[in-house]
Amino acid sequence: MLRTSLLALAFGACASAHCTMKQLLETVDSYLAAQTSGQISAFTSRFDNSTWLGYYENSVKMPVNTGILNKPLTITHNRSIYDMTGCATYTEVVVNSTTDPYVIGTQLHIANHNINKVDSLVTKPGDWLFNVTGTAYWTAQENWDPIPEAKRDSREMIKKAADAYCDLFNNPNVTVPWGTPCVRLEGGLYGDPGPNGSCNVGVPSGVPLTNRRYVIDESMGSVDVMLDFGNSKWPDSHQFRVENGRIRYVHTLTHCGVANCGLVNGMMAARRWPVRPCLH
Ligand SMILES: *[C@@H]1O[C@H](CO)[C@@H](O)[C@H](O)[C@H]1NC(C)=O
Ligand SMILES: *[C@@H]1O[C@H](CO)[C@@H](O)[C@H](O)[C@H]1NC(C)=O
Ligand SMILES: *[C@@H]1O[C@H](CO)[C@@H](O)[C@H](O)[C@H]1NC(C)=O
Ligand SMILES: *[C@@H]1O[C@H](CO)[C@@H](O)[C@H](O)[C@H]1NC(C)=O
Ligand SMILES: *[C@@H]1O[C@H](CO)[C@@H](O)[C@H](O)[C@H]1NC(C)=O
Ligand SMILES: *[C@@H]1O[C@H](CO)[C@@H](O)[C@H](O)[C@H]1NC(C)=O
Repeated sequence: MLRTSLLALAFGACASAHCTMKQLLETVDSYLAAQTSGQISAFTSRFDNSTWLGYYENSVKMPVNTGILNKPLTITHNRSIYDMTGCATYTEVVVNSTTDPYVIGTQLHIANHNINKVDSLVTKPGDWLFNVTGTAYWTAQENWDPIPEAKRDSREMIKKAADAYCDLFNNPNVTVPWGTPCVRLEGGLYGDPGPNGSCNVGVPSGVPLTNRRYVIDESMGSVDVMLDFGNSKWPDSHQFRVENGRIRYVHTLTHCGVANCGLVNGMMAARRWPVRPCLH
């Protein structure tokens, strides 16, 4: 009796956590198709209503039929990572339009083989360092090829690198495994892409990065962390590429609700933080 229920419990836990790559790929395809067409019904038919946690844009829960997905957008770049353990995906979407540009980052979370949470960061002109031509250009230059199996970092190591980076904003004593080169795409602003490029160029302090939600893909050496940025809790996504345990790329998206997060370019760091140039 006990044995049976333990088995059932174990099996139940496995069943909900288990997902296949095929399923994750189809889920992302369905998401991209919805955003491209503005037709959401095929996508929402994949929602798991019994475990439903919500559709979020910039940390605001809303009905999916009022969201950005209902607006057809010409996607000029997309790149996804697939978390086989967490049953989740993250997709970077660029709409390189001169009239209505967007950079969107979306986590899809799966339960019972269906989607039970959509968590999107939707950025557009006015958001932190938004520059779609910059994002479109630089993200395409980067090498996000799958990492050869023998050279892959563990899930724990990838997550630890991201956490160290995120912790640094509130604890200057943290040791971050910076790579060389390392380059940061902050909104649409790029760092030094050269062989000596460094991401260790200063971050503000006293800025807690909280409520972290992770999607981790060992084959891509990547983790996306959705989080609340600082005491203002700005909705934010930090995606990392980690190679040999060290941070190679960082992509950030931050939505502040007010133009450029209410900060005047250049003046902002001098006033608010000891170190320039970047918020992240
Ligand atoms: C969940 O609800 C949506 C909207 O009400 C519906 O379109 C969809 O088919 C349902 N999903 C499943 C898996 O039953
Ligand atoms: C997403 O990117 C892949 C290549 O990386 C491409 O084959 C596919 O057509 C893109 N999808 C959309 C909707 O743009
Ligand atoms: C946007 O990025 C492009 C490419 O890096 C750059 O040439 C351009 O000056 C940037 N625009 C602004 C307004 O910063
Ligand atoms: C993005 O759009 C601009 C303006 O239309 C264009 O000049 C640029 O080449 C595009 N960038 C990419 C990477 O396609
Ligand atoms: C960082 O280290 C310094 C010197 O050891 C210490 O005074 C400080 O409390 C530490 N800060 C944190 C946030 O741990
Ligand atoms: C990178 O750093 C090395 C060692 O300091 C230096 O010799 C080299 O010239 C630098 N390369 C570039 C492109 O700055």
